[in-house]
Amino acid sequence: MTSRASGPFAVLVTGGAGYIGSHAVLALLDAGWKVSVIDNLVTGFREAVDRRARFHEGDIADEALVAHILAEDGIGAIMHFAGSVVVPESVADPLKYYRNNTANSRTLIESAVRGGVRHFIFSSTAATYGIPDEIPVREDMPTRPINPYGMSKLMTEAMLADVAAAHPINYCALRYFNVAGADPQGRTGQSTAGATHLIKVAVEAALGKRSEVAIFGTDYSTPDGTGVRDYIHVADLADAHLHALDTLIALPDRSHIMNCGYGRGYSVLEVLDSVERMSGNSIVRRMEPRRAGDPDALTADNARILATTPWRPRLADLDTIVAHALAWERKLGERD
Ligand code: UFG
Repeated sequence: MTSRASGPFAVLVTGGAGYIGSHAVLALLDAGWKVSVIDNLVTGFREAVDRRARFHEGDIADEALVAHILAEDGIGAIMHFAGSVVVPESVADPLKYYRNNTANSRTLIESAVRGGVRHFIFSSTAATYGIPDEIPVREDMPTRPINPYGMSKLMTEAMLADVAAAHPINYCALRYFNVAGADPQGRTGQSTAGATHLIKVAVEAALGKRSEVAIFGTDYSTPDGTGVRDYIHVADLADAHLHALDTLIALPDRSHIMNCGYGRGYSVLEVLDSVERMSGNSIVRRMEPRRAGDPDALTADNARILATTPWRPRLADLDTIVAHALAWERKLGERD
């Protein structure tokens, strides 16, 4: 772990009991930060939050609670992970997404401004781009979300830009590509039941928790015909948040939008091959038609985060990502 000195304030992590948030909590604590977590435990898990963090069960829309936490815990920065993340659900229930991801973020940002919070890091997504004209996609390329999930996040980015221009707060919106893997030390991982993300689904199949993996489309314009994505290790992503925070502190008048990905893609078949290789088990593959709204290939141009921060990928190898996802899945199996 990097050894950054703790700042003069504590960091509030919203959604810190969730998959990515719980990894950010570990990264912050390991680097010496004081950390508070707020999570309503609707999709998060209390046991995912490291004991060294202060835990507050509640909602980010609860202004009185958030004001209390900001003052009592000495919060100077917020990392905002809380929200809803299932793309098809956002199509079926858009208002849930505009409430949880947009309206509640608005309330939280207002609480942050009122409470004198100076730095705000926001979990954004590659879904803000929609289907890009070219890949790897750069941050200055058009943002044309094709689902309410992506739009709900893009609207929050827009609010942050306006708020940072008007108030003494700066922000970094991190646009995540395909997040996967688990803490290399096995302390946390992805625990949500009914996962739909490829690597999670594939490791469940390899460990006998599901019978097969559907391959959604084999006729894409990619080298092997299956969809290509930029998978980023969740621990590298958590580390990117630490560097984003350092950057916001160093230059308080500057805000940033940065892709979080490695800039290279793997196909569905390459992912399944990796899971078979790392688990030693074979996976039953079922060819299915394309899933609605899936681009052929989506990879990040990560030049901006590399130029703006000292962040460097450390766990970019696909087999490493898969090995850590498998280790966590085995651990979950022991608990079941
Ligand atoms: N896939 C399968 N079978 C599965 C699951 C996925 O073949 O069972 C394929 C998909 O078609 C796609 C690739 O594997 O080609 C990755 O799919 P995921 O569902 O794992 O991830 P997405 O790329 O669809 O989603 C990611 C993020 C979302 C974000 C979205 C759009 O997880 O949060 O990108 O940028 F909104």
